[in-house]
Amino acid sequence: MTSPFAARFPQLAARLSWRQLAALPTPVEPVPRLGAALGLPSLLVKRDDLSGQPYGGNKIRKLEYLLGDALQRGCDSVLTFGAAGSNHALATSIYARQLGLRCHAVVSDQVQTPWVADTLRWHLQLGTQLTPAGSYAQMLEAAANLRVQHSTGAERMYEIPWGGSSPLGTIGFVAAGFEIAAQLAATGVQGPVRIYLACGTMGSVAGLVLGLKLAGSDATVVAVPILPLERVSVPAIAALCAATGQAMRERDASVPDCPDPLSRLEFRTGFLGAGYAQATPEGLEAMLLADELAGLKTETTYTAKALACLIADARSGRLAGCVPIFWQTLNSRPKPPGLAAVDAGQLPLSLRKYL
Ligand SMILES: Cc1ncc(COP(=O)(O)O)c(C=O)c1O
Repeated sequence: MTSPFAARFPQLAARLSWRQLAALPTPVEPVPRLGAALGLPSLLVKRDDLSGQPYGGNKIRKLEYLLGDALQRGCDSVLTFGAAGSNHALATSIYARQLGLRCHAVVSDQVQTPWVADTLRWHLQLGTQLTPAGSYAQMLEAAANLRVQHSTGAERMYEIPWGGSSPLGTIGFVAAGFEIAAQLAATGVQGPVRIYLACGTMGSVAGLVLGLKLAGSDATVVAVPILPLERVSVPAIAALCAATGQAMRERDASVPDCPDPLSRLEFRTGFLGAGYAQATPEGLEAMLLADELAGLKTETTYTAKALACLIADARSGRLAGCVPIFWQTLNSRPKPPGLAAVDAGQLPLSLRKYL
């Protein structure tokens, strides 16, 4: 079936080297018990946790465009970056492998969370080439070395930035903006829509605000930064929107310029706590409520912080008359069997502390 995005911009869609990985559209579902507990007549969840098989979450939308481009360019490997427990690096490895591409991931240290160990074990099972690096500069240096050493030549190693948030990857979330706009129109949702999601490398938020605008929706996007503000900011989201719009227009001049894409963006600080991957009391409460009242699995690094913002808004009365939507960006597909039996001895020494 043609997606609402491809239907609106057929020439652009034809010029993008897209590879189908996701099962779209993901459902939009009511969670009435959680809504009632928060005093909300309506609370919806956008189930991106079901976006892919064997692994869902928000990253698959970007990877459809990025891995498609890698194949189109004749690459045999991908190189990406993230923290040790990065969902993006894991999703990249899973889908790269599905498409016959090898995956290198340069990973940095992070705060220990209950999710890091299984992420690393899953990488081992997949055969991801993991290179640990301390600082940002060391990550870049490690990447440069990997490129130089690549046996079939540096140009056959396709580079995917942190979180897949290049302009090309962000187009995946422009398409998501069209998707949710069509779903809302089809269900005849009444009242101002407010979409809550975590904001890290910013591609999801930037693509979504741009896609909603281009689709003619007036939904508000509530972005909850989960990284310190020197790495996530409104000007940086604006720059990514502009670069993404440019990447679209380079392929299809009929894509309109969007003069003020951020007019419906709310950038909500105050839910990060002590830093990336550091749990907060509000996040822990959100995690418990979502699990108990909606069977929704969140985690303390991204999704629970975004949900904590929605809960705070519900309690302060800010959501009166609104239709809030929680964008579930975390995978909910089961882990593969055999993770516990993976040989941890294959893991680079500096990463073994997470197991
Ligand atoms: C579960 C989850 N939610 C949200 C995000 C944030 O998305 P983005 O990096 O596009 O801002 C990420 C990735 O960093 C993630 O893994």
